[in-house]
Amino acid sequence: MKEFSDVFEVAKAVLDANDRGHHTVPSAGIYPHQWFWDSCFISIGLRHYDIDRAKLEIRSLLRGQWNNGMIPNIVEESNSFGRKATDFWQSWRSPLAPDDVATSGITQPPMLAEAVIQIGASLKKAERRTWYKTMLPGLIAHHYWLYNERNPYHDGLTIQIHPWETGLDNSPPWMNAMQIEAMPLWIKILRGAHIHPLLNVFRQDTHYVPAEQRLSTLDGLMLYSAQRRIRRHAYDIQKIVKKPLFTAQDLTFNCILIRANEHLKSIADAIDEPVPSELLALMDTTAASLEQLWDPYSKQYYSRRMPGKKTMKLSSIATLMPLYAGSISKERAKTLVGHLHNKDLFGANYPVPSVPLNNEWFKPTGYWQGPTWLNTNWLIIDGLTRYGFTKEADIIRRKSLKLIEDHGCYEYFSPLDGSPAGAKDFSWTAALAIDMLKG
Ligand code: GLC
Repeated sequence: MKEFSDVFEVAKAVLDANDRGHHTVPSAGIYPHQWFWDSCFISIGLRHYDIDRAKLEIRSLLRGQWNNGMIPNIVEESNSFGRKATDFWQSWRSPLAPDDVATSGITQPPMLAEAVIQIGASLKKAERRTWYKTMLPGLIAHHYWLYNERNPYHDGLTIQIHPWETGLDNSPPWMNAMQIEAMPLWIKILRGAHIHPLLNVFRQDTHYVPAEQRLSTLDGLMLYSAQRRIRRHAYDIQKIVKKPLFTAQDLTFNCILIRANEHLKSIADAIDEPVPSELLALMDTTAASLEQLWDPYSKQYYSRRMPGKKTMKLSSIATLMPLYAGSISKERAKTLVGHLHNKDLFGANYPVPSVPLNNEWFKPTGYWQGPTWLNTNWLIIDGLTRYGFTKEADIIRRKSLKLIEDHGCYEYFSPLDGSPAGAKDFSWTAALAIDMLKG
């Protein structure tokens, strides 16, 4: 796009500065290490000017893949590996974790197949075949893991065991449900005695980003405590799904899985290596079950709490993710596009807000509780384009690029006035801006 011609250099400089050799940090300081869906988005940008580096980003991510196929949300930088009781994740507690690299013990939305396909699209046919051949085993193992371990209700909708697994850490539906159902007693006591603000001094993130742009201390404590409980179970899913741990079928995660399943089939087809039929059968159940998350009264999709199938009925950007899944009817897609235009919901000056504008949780620069993020915009643009809503897709693309042209590659932006917020020089903002420029 001619009119945003400066954006490329600005974005590339961010990716160069955050490059650590074989992986790119999301943002220097606040987010060290390699992150799963960040690296997928980053490779989608890198492929436009350094295809080998894009491949390396993904290969290095797969160093962290567990023996059971799980891809962790964080692969730690090599100098931090050690069997120390002070490690935050202590992945060595699980026999399934890799031996030579420290990782987290939970996952993130399955963006890998998308990254593999996008890199493939930038390669010539012969190289693409080689790339797909190298990637297919890890991908198949990953999707098998999703269905074997995260599909305990056999309906194809995978469960997520921590808000971090959804990628939208403090999104209102999860935070609301956890505050009601899963707040440990010690946090309730801190809250009751108003002691929790004193804990702000221990926060590292607020050294980099103003506290009001991050998640609240109370929500942070809840996420931390949930991580401790999962770690105590050595990341063993059989133990984790038992009460009192909080699990849900997350809408964003499952929509990304539906798209990833389609990509996996295309990758396998392109190299004439069929996906095992039992996995194919499992994959097909997810798209069919997505309709169980539709609420006909509010005309929106929601995540749901498991077991018990209780709808987490607070609207968020997740309700638009079925556009990216691509499995819903054109009619349904039209309804979601209506929400996108609606000025009370997602029709902001700088779309797309992570929470509807009329929602009581909405905060213009409150992390995943209002701001506009480039990665969710990218997913929505991709879905809109495939459903033929090219005008809407183009508006979101241009407004996203305008934000970067005006302010640089911030982590997120106010949907009301476009003011920048969160971490500065954020890698996926940069990478996806490059992809939007080229698209
Ligand atoms: C935050 C985001 C998550 C992202 C990570 C690293 O935790 O919520 O989606 O992957 O930061 O950028």
